[in-house]
This record gives sequence, C-alpha cells and structure tokens, in this order.
Amino acid sequence: MSELEVTLVTRDGAELRFPCAQAENVLGASEAAGYYLPAMCHEGTCGLCHARVTEGKYTMGPHNSAALRADVPGEVLLCRCSPDEDLTVALPYNQAQILRYKVPVRQAVIETMAPAWQDAVALTLRLQPDAATGTAVEFSPGQYMELTIPGTEIRRAYSLANLPNWEGRLDFLIRLAPNGMFSTWLREQARVGDAITVRGPSGSFILDETSVRPRCFVGGGCGLAPILSMLRHLGEFQDSQPTHLIFGANRQAELVPAAEVEAVSAALPQLGVTLAVTSPEEGWQGFQGTAPAALEVYLSQADEPMDIYACGPPKMLEAVEKLVEKRGRGDRVIAERL
Ligand code: FES
Repeated sequence: MSELEVTLVTRDGAELRFPCAQAENVLGASEAAGYYLPAMCHEGTCGLCHARVTEGKYTMGPHNSAALRADVPGEVLLCRCSPDEDLTVALPYNQAQILRYKVPVRQAVIETMAPAWQDAVALTLRLQPDAATGTAVEFSPGQYMELTIPGTEIRRAYSLANLPNWEGRLDFLIRLAPNGMFSTWLREQARVGDAITVRGPSGSFILDETSVRPRCFVGGGCGLAPILSMLRHLGEFQDSQPTHLIFGANRQAELVPAAEVEAVSAALPQLGVTLAVTSPEEGWQGFQGTAPAALEVYLSQADEPMDIYACGPPKMLEAVEKLVEKRGRGDRVIAERL
C-alpha cells in the first residue's frame, strides 16, 4: 500500500503535514498523526469535515451529506476522501480549531426540558463530576456538543446557548425535526434525570476577538443558540465594538422571544437588532423579508468591512456568502451550517 503525504492548510495559513495511505481516508490519517479536526459521524453524513482539495487527485467514497456543494471544485468530506497522489487541502477554519487531543467524553443528566418556541425545546443538562475537571465545563462561545441517544451509538451535534461555567450546566435549543432520531427520542422517551453521554466541545464557529471590525450576527431558527452564547460572552466582557443582530423567521411566532433579546441588549447596550419576518401579520413593524435580505439593507448603510457571523440552514448561508461577494468590500463571513 503506497504511503502518500497530505498537507492541510488552515484559514490562517498554518500547514500541517502527515502520511496517508492510498486506501486510508484523510480524516483517519490526521487523527493517527494527532490532529483532531472538526468532525462527528466519520461516515459521510454530518458534513462537519468538509474542506477543499487544492492540489492532487483523490477518490471520494459514498456519502450522504447535503453539506457537500457539487458546484465548488475540489470540495470533499475528509472522512470519505482518500488520496491518489500527494494532496494539499484548504481547511475552512483556523489552526486553533484543530485539537491535539481526543475530544472529551463525559456523562450528564437531563436537568430540565421545556418547550421554547414553536417546535424548539430548551434542554438543560448537568455534567457529572469528572476526576480531572470536577463539574466545570470549558468551551468557546459558538461551539457545539454531541449528544448520544442513550442505549445507541447515534450522536447529534447541538450548539451551546450558554457560557462556560463551573457548575457543568449545558443549555441547548433543539428544533424537533419531524422524523429526526434524536428529536423522536427527546419527544417520546427522554425524562428529567435521564443519563446521557456528551462529547465535546467541538467546532470552529467562534468569535475572532482579535478583530477590530464591527460585528453582525445573522441567525435563523435554532441558529440563534450559538449566537446567543457569543452575544452573552461579549456582554460579560463589556465589549464595545459596534454589534448588530439579524434574526430571521417565516412567521412572527417563530421569532426569538423578546425577553431573550432584551436580556442580551441590557448587557450589550450598543447592540442593534433587526427582526426579519418573511410572511408577517398585518401591522408588523419590523423588517419584511428574509434574514439575508435584511443583511443586504444593513450592509448598504455600512462603510467599513464587517465580520459577519452567520448560523442557519445552508440556503441562508449561501445567500449571505453571495451577498458579501457581490458587495466586494472585504467583509468576512464566519459560518455554521445547521
Ligand atoms: S465526519 Fe461527518 S461527514 Fe465527515
């Protein structure tokens, strides 16, 4: 079996090299070399390991992920990509998002479960004490945890909505998908006090706190969870950079509860908020249209390049990226697909 070389190039220009056999996938080879990239399922479903091959030939195995964009040359899932030649791969995140240790696995119990709004559930877990860390939970606002359906190997990733804390509290906003496996378990079987395995934190959707640009957060649905965590973090540190939140929904009933927005605004007084509704009822005072359409209006009034943090469905993210490309002002999009 011939051994080839893979070079990963991170968004901030770091290069990581490791050997990879022709029959091996790049994600497995990177882990064998001690580089743990953002990934979850390892079987071509979750889309978290997507990247772009810029040099070299490769073979893609079967996959089932909508995250892979057929129109982007070289786009691959690293858990399904094997080299036919030496490869150079561009990663859509910075070096800091590559771990040098295995993602921690811990036990937790369900502390509360309550309807949030529309078809979303607010789920709070409490970590069990761990010999190394006690109950503390460390993560960067914007990251996610993988939750395992008890008695199975099935994991689903959900973003944290709260902040790192000593008490081991993990808050999630989970949309109940009609046929989703985790959603079905949550709806039909989960009870307060149930034990659940959590793996994480993971993910590269985090704040660039070295940037001095104004920030705009664009969210739809449960994409609000990581954005709330980031805004709470900025509020906690009394960040003073210009900051705007755009939240989009189809109907008013699907909007983020006003109390959440008020609590974040109280801690972050410079925060501007645009609520965008595609099909509002009569008398709606906010923006009528999608979140990307509201972003277009907002950007048309902005003079300087922005950092745009977007979390939502792939269609919303594509629209945001196209808009930024069209504007051509050097805005930067940091995105998380739901
Ligand atoms: S790790 Fe899930 S698609 Fe590769």
